[in-house]
Amino acid sequence: MPSLSTPVPELLRRLVPVLALLLAVGCAEPPQIRSASSGETLTVQNGAVASTDAWSSQVGADVLVEGGNAVDAAIAVGFALAVTHPSAGNIGGGGFMVVRTPDGETTTFDFREKAPLASHPEMFLDEGGEFSAEVRHRSHISVGVPGTVAGFELAHERFGSTGWARLVEPSVQLASDGIEMTADLSNSIAGAVSRMEGRGYQASVEAFSRDGVPYEAGELWQQPDLARTLERIRDEGRDGFYRGETADLLVAEMERGGGIITHEDLEIYQAVERAPIEGTFLGYDVIGMGPPSSGGTAIVQMLNILEGFDLQAIGHNSPEYVHHVAEAMRLAFRDRAAHLADTDFAEVPLDRLTSKEYAEELRARIHPDVAGVSEVSDIELGVEAVETTHYSVIDSDGMAVAVTYTLEGGYGSHITVPGAGFLLNNEMGDFNAGPGITDESGLIGTEPNLARPEQRMLSSMSPTILARDGELVGVLGTPGGRTIINTVLQLVLNRTAFQMDPASVLQGPRFHHQWLPDRITMERDMATPELMSRLEEMGHTVETRTRQGAAHSILIDPETEARVGVPDPRIPDATAVGY
Ligand code: DON
Repeated sequence: MPSLSTPVPELLRRLVPVLALLLAVGCAEPPQIRSASSGETLTVQNGAVASTDAWSSQVGADVLVEGGNAVDAAIAVGFALAVTHPSAGNIGGGGFMVVRTPDGETTTFDFREKAPLASHPEMFLDEGGEFSAEVRHRSHISVGVPGTVAGFELAHERFGSTGWARLVEPSVQLASDGIEMTADLSNSIAGAVSRMEGRGYQASVEAFSRDGVPYEAGELWQQPDLARTLERIRDEGRDGFYRGETADLLVAEMERGGGIITHEDLEIYQAVERAPIEGTFLGYDVIGMGPPSSGGTAIVQMLNILEGFDLQAIGHNSPEYVHHVAEAMRLAFRDRAAHLADTDFAEVPLDRLTSKEYAEELRARIHPDVAGVSEVSDIELGVEAVETTHYSVIDSDGMAVAVTYTLEGGYGSHITVPGAGFLLNNEMGDFNAGPGITDESGLIGTEPNLARPEQRMLSSMSPTILARDGELVGVLGTPGGRTIINTVLQLVLNRTAFQMDPASVLQGPRFHHQWLPDRITMERDMATPELMSRLEEMGHTVETRTRQGAAHSILIDPETEARVGVPDPRIPDATAVGY
């Protein structure tokens, strides 16, 4: 600051930029924040957030308007969703963030949960040595060491431009002031509360209902314990979660319920910055998540296979198209089962799996109109959970962030940490069942993805960024267990091979094949009798489902560089907000 002894002309010269800024701030029109609900698209020139609800997208957009960058906004959205979207938004789970900076630098943050130190490959067997789905998916043993808070802190250290407390504060307010239940949220929570009651998780019943009576749509839902936990994270960063009161409460619940996470597990948890998996498709750059997610690898592998077919000529969602894409899915999911796991523990031939040469070999195995065969062997089929959440952020400079994070199943383990108000994941169920365990239902015991101390369980989450000739093209991702990989594949194909407009990219009906079980599942909207019977003639088994995914995405309009936010029309509360 100029001192009082500064000569007057010099003082004026130094004050000019300050006065100019004050004038600009005083006179500038406040930015027009706009939003689009499910079924609409948002077109804005600066920054945008697309997520599963309006509260969280608004929190992110506020950060952007104040000059925060896309990573800042993504962190604020992630904490907000931990309050407003308890089925998957979390601080007790984990996930992945993919970042592309305005100058094209790409990186990823891996905050996947880790196996506690007391883990071992046989941990999902009961006293009689039999595999127990109950232990693997619905017990205190199913809880992995959470990664979200450490992941957000690491991303903030690397890219943050807004103070940490400012990014956590909105979530504190949402939890303490409360939110008004939407119909969708109230339905979802009512289902969870009855499961929580059934399992005797009293702290969860208290957190998610009024003495066991679920909140109705329109009622105010406050989460005071969660607000206090978020305050500790706001004030102390990762130490507010991995140490002190939050850690004590978490470990006490583990001891009470027969879990194995200790103070040491929390203390040593580290999120990791990793290189992305990058591939090319028809001139586009595809930037995805590497292990411990299988997503980026499988998507690049399938795109490499499909690049050798004339997809335009085959025709979008024609029987021949579904056949060729499903065959690429079959081949990639076979390799996923055979090879993919946490590369800190297992050798994974990533270079080969993502190479154009290997894709050529695989492409040669695809018959033009006869379904391939999935040999029943070493693959885990397991329970397919239906909740995770994805959100997308682009800021005014063009920094892009894709985040997919989860508790694994909807509401994770359903265990709320008493006094801390947050749900714990059941991510340990993403490890293989146990060594050598193979049965008719498809459980397997291949080595790479067995539970071991500190290993991260294999994921399908696929936050993805597209670019072309150095320019950002879009931010994509979705929940949906193994269908995640195939939903993102189809979003990429819709935008690149078929040049669809953003709304159509998301609306287009989706299908899925995961090698085993050997069948195509497709959204009911696309399952015409003609399509199904032609695919069956080719030798495919075809089943239908209501919906596949919730892919809240943002695409760039190449002409105007506008950010076009598309909340997935399949999700009633999904919202994009921007300016
Ligand atoms: O990491 C994974 O792949 C799974 N735990 C994700 C689960 C999921 O997407 C459930 N969602 N809809």
